[in-house]
Amino acid sequence: MDNHILNPMFIPRHVAIIMDGNGRWAKKINKERFFGHNSGIKSVRESIDICLELGVKQLTLYAFSSENWSRPKKEVSSLMNLLSSSVEKEIPRLIENNIKLEIIGNTSKLPEITRNKLLDGVTETCQNDGLILSLAISYGARQEMIRATKLISEKVKKNIISVENIDENIINEHLYTRNLKNVDLLIRTGGELRLSNFLLWQISYAELCFQDVLWPDFKKEHFLNAIIDYQGRTRRFGKIK
Ligand code: IPE
Ligand code: IPE
Ligand code: MG
Repeated sequence: MDNHILNPMFIPRHVAIIMDGNGRWAKKINKERFFGHNSGIKSVRESIDICLELGVKQLTLYAFSSENWSRPKKEVSSLMNLLSSSVEKEIPRLIENNIKLEIIGNTSKLPEITRNKLLDGVTETCQNDGLILSLAISYGARQEMIRATKLISEKVKKNIISVENIDENIINEHLYTRNLKNVDLLIRTGGELRLSNFLLWQISYAELCFQDVLWPDFKKEHFLNAIIDYQGRTRRFGKIK
């Protein structure tokens, strides 16, 4: 990949990242898993900076899945604290950089204090019209689809939507990601080759990039390599070139 250079004219509009490998990173240096999560924050900052630099319009980060609730209580509560305190700390920087924060997922399951801090970040940045930073927290794609189905069914029952009119747009409008475009590039760090219930609808035609690097080691160069990789793909969308 070294002999390719990045083409600034062909930047993915929406990048999504499965930030995986924090626990293994910590284990390698004989630390608690939490140390890995904490160390992953700087990779988040770095990713945001590159998006601002390159003009990526939407960045969606998988921070905590519906299934992650099944982890030990201690890990879950430390993650909740880390997520809300990091958002709280970053608000001035988000405002300074015109970043609009969104939270996607079932926030009703979050501890109230976590939810309130996250929602404060959303409120304080809601007027910004630059990069949309979506944090997927308590998020699962299947749960998102069930929720959308229920919302649409209610509207059908009340004659707000007719069954004949249900199409991709209607479904999009009832997803957590209704303000976002389809994902162009999905990156997963940590070496696993799976999607773990992330954005299944939105990635139908995304280019997938799996990297072995553990999330706390994810740096600008890894992000750029993913974009160069993306730029080398031919997106056909079912057509012939
Ligand atoms: C990703 O890292 C962060 C979350 C899922 C919250 P992991 O905690 O899954 O780290 P590994 O995969 O065990 O190394
Ligand atoms: C996916 O990672 C969820 C996040 C990165 C937040 P996991 O570590 O939870 O996924 P699995 O268990 O390896 O599929
Ligand atoms: Mg993992």
